[in-house]
Amino acid sequence: MIEEYISNQEFQTCYEKLNGLRSRIARDLPIKPDMHILDVGTGSGFFAIEVAKLDKTLRITGIDISQADIRNARKNIKREGLNDRVEILDMDATKMRFHPEQFDMAINFTGLEDIHMTRGRAGVQKTFLEVNRVLKPKSFFCFVVMPPEEMETQAQKIEVALFSYICDATWLAAKEYEEFLQQANFKLIRKRSYYTGKKLTPEQAKAEIRFTCKTDPKIYGITTPPFEEIWAKFGQDIEEYGLGYYSKVVLIIAQKVNKLH
Ligand SMILES: C[S@@+](CC[C@H](N)C(=O)[O-])C[C@H]1O[C@@H](n2cnc3c(N)ncnc32)[C@H](O)[C@@H]1O
Repeated sequence: MIEEYISNQEFQTCYEKLNGLRSRIARDLPIKPDMHILDVGTGSGFFAIEVAKLDKTLRITGIDISQADIRNARKNIKREGLNDRVEILDMDATKMRFHPEQFDMAINFTGLEDIHMTRGRAGVQKTFLEVNRVLKPKSFFCFVVMPPEEMETQAQKIEVALFSYICDATWLAAKEYEEFLQQANFKLIRKRSYYTGKKLTPEQAKAEIRFTCKTDPKIYGITTPPFEEIWAKFGQDIEEYGLGYYSKVVLIIAQKVNKLH
């Protein structure tokens, strides 16, 4: 598998672009005209924007708990001229303030590791139950994850271990997500892998780790180990292999089969 280092020029915008990953995944979603879609853990709104661009009749509601992300998302949506169809709300995925059976589809692009960071494993489980509650019968829940056992290269394996160590942004095994789906009355429809073909250099990795250690405690009130401790544990491997950067992700599509009682 080819996994090139991101150039320093690309590094500035690599999160927003992710080598076209979001638009490739968006095009594979079972979208139909006029859907009202819930984006759970919308972050800066990049996935919501890609999905909204697919069809002018779609409406999207994105939710997040980070004020900084909510501000950025609203700014990005305005820049794309999508304000009339995409809204962002300050809401916790584990305690949604929506009516039952309100949405035609739910999406989540790499947000479940952050929900694990803020609300733990039980929070991820609760999110699945909440998604089921707010979806209309037979609707799809489409989410993008990075299960550790699915990671193929050293750089990818280091990425999932690193952020779990730094801030408990932990990816669960695909089997565990499938168990949560079953418990929340979803049936698994399809799983598909996607690759960016890119990874971070050791210097870019250092900047990324420093950024996480600086911003995440402020935003989420968590503590992270000091940079030196993190580098002592992971630095040598990152120097040798680089650091994965959403290099491989897995799209899971599930369908609501029943109303929960
Ligand atoms: C990796 S980002 C999402 C990326 C985004 N979907 C995109 O397309 O770029 C994960 C987001 O989940 C949010 N998050 C964490 N815990 C949450 C919770 N309990 N409820 C809602 N959002 C949460 C974080 O604030 C963060 O913005």
